[in-house]
This record gives sequence, C-alpha cells and structure tokens, in this order.
Amino acid sequence: MGEFIDIVRDRRSANKFIENIEIPRKVFDDIFYELTSAPSAFNLQHANYYVVQNPELKMEVYEAAFRQYKVKTSSAVIFVTGDKEAYKNASNIYEGSKMLGILDQREFDDIIKLINDLYEGWGEKFQHDEAVRNSSLSAMLFMLLAKDKGWDTCPMIYFDQDKIRELLNIPDNEVPTLMITMGKMDTTSVKLRGARKAPGEFTHFL
Ligand SMILES: Cc1cc2nc3c(=O)[nH]c(=O)nc-3n(C[C@H](O)[C@H](O)[C@H](O)COP(=O)(O)O)c2cc1C
Repeated sequence: MGEFIDIVRDRRSANKFIENIEIPRKVFDDIFYELTSAPSAFNLQHANYYVVQNPELKMEVYEAAFRQYKVKTSSAVIFVTGDKEAYKNASNIYEGSKMLGILDQREFDDIIKLINDLYEGWGEKFQHDEAVRNSSLSAMLFMLLAKDKGWDTCPMIYFDQDKIRELLNIPDNEVPTLMITMGKMDTTSVKLRGARKAPGEFTHFL
C-alpha cells in the first residue's frame, strides 16, 4: 500500500498500455470493496460500473471509442454510469439503517419524503446532474484505488454514448459518465505532466 500523497502525485493518465496483461479478478474485487466507502448525496450510491475484459467485446468498445489506441492496448475498459433514478431506491438503503437502530420509523419516513420531494421537485436536470456528480466522485476514487494497487488508468470521454449503451445493455436511467481504461502504463511514452495552474489562479477565499 502506498502513501496517499505519493498516489496523488504519481497518478497519471496513461498514454499507452503494455499489451496482453490480465487484471486478476481479485484486484477488481478489492477495489470495489473499498469503493463502497465513496460519499454520495443522501448515501444514494448512484454509481454503477461495467467492466470489459473480454477481448472481442473490448474490440467493439475500441470501435465505439473511435479507435483510440489506448483502448486497444488496455487490460480493461471500465464504464462508470450514474443512476438518475437512484433516489427511487432510497427506502431499500435506509431500511438497513432503520434495522440497525440508526433511524427510528419517523426519521425514516422523513428522510424518504425529503429525498423524493427533492429529486422529483427539482426535476430531470437535477437528477441528471446528481448522476454525473456522484458517479464522477466515485470514479476518481476508483482511479486512486487502482493506482494504490499498482494499476494505471486514464479517464476518457471520447466515445459514442449510444453505441456503448447498446453494446453493454446500459439501461436508460443510467448516464454513462466516464470511460476508464486500465492496465500497466507503457512508460516508454510518458509525457511530462501538462502545465497546471498555480493554486492562486483557481482558489477564491472570501
Ligand atoms: C473528464 C475527463 C475526460 C478525459 N478524456 C480523455 C480522453 O477522451 N482521451 C484521453 O486520452 N484523455 C482523456 N482525459 C485525460 C486528460 O487528458 C488528463 O487527465 C490531463 O491531460 C492531465 O493529465 P494527467 O491526468 O496525467 O495529470 C480525460 C480526463 C478527464 C478528467
């Protein structure tokens, strides 16, 4: 296990991967186990993950991602989606807290009503924003956990959403937020990190 600061500093978006390296299932199991700690609004856990390792399916994803070379050389391509209807599952999630005695019946009823009023009252745009916001937070944690276990990633947006939805049977209520390629980075083609703004350029203390 690495030092957190080293993981933050050493994570790079892989430009190219070493081909034909398989990611053991245990790596994914461990990452997803830790990923359950990710925060989400009202603990609704909007994020879903679709892991593509099968070589034939990966080639179809490669086509749907406009033949980006790193998709082909990656060990796995992971699609992160956000569920616009996550709020509809609130009572299942909160039932567990009620059983554990964290909430009594009245608090349970109040929180379920609040969640429904908010997500339905604020409507589709809010539901979409929530799906993207919460799944993006989860995706960042996924990439840091992968790095912690010695695996490199690249977050990507350049793919045909409709084709991917069809290929992976992603239901309409889920927004494909991000494609993450994963594998062992080919360090022969690592570019210097792109210039970053100084903190003073993007922070506003009021
Ligand atoms: C939302 C998002 C979308 C991205 N999409 C792509 C992409 O489609 N293709 C790609 O090669 N890199 C993509 N990147 C990677 C960025 O180019 C990379 O993070 C940035 O240049 C900084 O490099 P670093 O992550 O190595 O520090 C994306 C990154 C983010 C956060």
